[in-house]
Amino acid sequence: MQGEKSPVLAGHKLLYRCNLQCKMCPFWRRGDEVLLGLADEIRIMDALARAGVSFLGFEGGEPLLRRDIGEILREGHARFHTSLVTNGWLLEHRLPEIAEHLDLLFVSLDGIGETHDRLRGVARSFDRAVGGIRAARAAVPTVISHTVTRENLHDAEAVVELAEQLEVGLTVQIAYDYRSARALSPQREELLPVIERLRDLRRSGAPILESAEYFDAILGSWYGGRPWRCKPWLTINIDPSGRIVLPCYVLHEYGGSLPVWEVDVRQLWNTFSWAPYESCNQCALACYLEPSLFQWTNLSSLRERVVDGAVNYLKRAPKVSSRPKGGRWIPIARPPD
Ligand SMILES: C[S@@+](CC[C@H](N)C(=O)[O-])C[C@H]1O[C@@H](n2cnc3c(N)ncnc32)[C@H](O)[C@@H]1O
Ligand code: SF4
Ligand code: SF4
Repeated sequence: MQGEKSPVLAGHKLLYRCNLQCKMCPFWRRGDEVLLGLADEIRIMDALARAGVSFLGFEGGEPLLRRDIGEILREGHARFHTSLVTNGWLLEHRLPEIAEHLDLLFVSLDGIGETHDRLRGVARSFDRAVGGIRAARAAVPTVISHTVTRENLHDAEAVVELAEQLEVGLTVQIAYDYRSARALSPQREELLPVIERLRDLRRSGAPILESAEYFDAILGSWYGGRPWRCKPWLTINIDPSGRIVLPCYVLHEYGGSLPVWEVDVRQLWNTFSWAPYESCNQCALACYLEPSLFQWTNLSSLRERVVDGAVNYLKRAPKVSSRPKGGRWIPIARPPD
């Protein structure tokens, strides 16, 4: 890297529309979606590959609503390590089209049973997501993606236990209050013991993919006055119409600027003024925080670090009776969101 900035991870929303209506999510409410066809999706991927991206995470909206998802993932996997995040409703049905083109699959679960259904706005969404996880886990390394809100704090530990029972991994986000969604970010005092507990579970070998340092960084920043240094330039985000979202997808609520294929990304990355965002600390999204903690000095070991690390972790991980000690893990483009 030696002073030169370039994105390593990419997140791409394939659409905004969704079959669920989560309280804390701004995306299904948007009316400005422009859907691209496969040829333009390939243009995006080629531009990202030129920019130096190694890992591409597909998301949305609900990516499994796209009829061409299998073709998009096949093209993606020919160029990058890939992940996809889904609400799981259509997962069992679409699995044969997607599994072979993914290195990691994230399925969102925001609590157990009724808690999840209430947050997601649709009855039976918990059962559908768990059914999808059961179907998927033998075909592709599968990870529960759990967003902590003020309405599901009490379920965090039960979600860890569910991940252990299902023998899948778990990634944890803290809800961010987007202007165009319901403000469900947890109260700081109520969140504190949950973060500490998740960190301790991580240290004792629970299948949580974030590092203990990720939880320590949140604790240091929000409760100890010790900010972490955000490096949003490690991740590039692309909206459904192919535009780059700068500086991160959080601050401008996924407002894109120029189409990525019209931009010299490396030049933009090295002229954009990133400094004001280093001390931002507004969000605790793992897709930005966790890579920011890592010293990215040797990109040649990226695959080993990101994909193989996660897959090995999942293989070693969740046996409830004998929790292994986890290694360090860098999460990928979750989802962004
Ligand atoms: C926007 S969704 C898109 C993919 C898919 N529809 C799903 O729900 O997994 C990606 C992730 O963003 C999370 N998310 C939604 N609203 C959020 C918020 N306000 N703060 C942090 N994460 C959020 C969801 O829980 C989900 O895990
Ligand atoms: S979080 Fe995912 S499932 Fe929920 S409304 Fe947003 S895009 Fe849809
Ligand atoms: S802390 Fe979060 S919101 Fe702030 S610049 Fe970094 S990624 Fe964006």
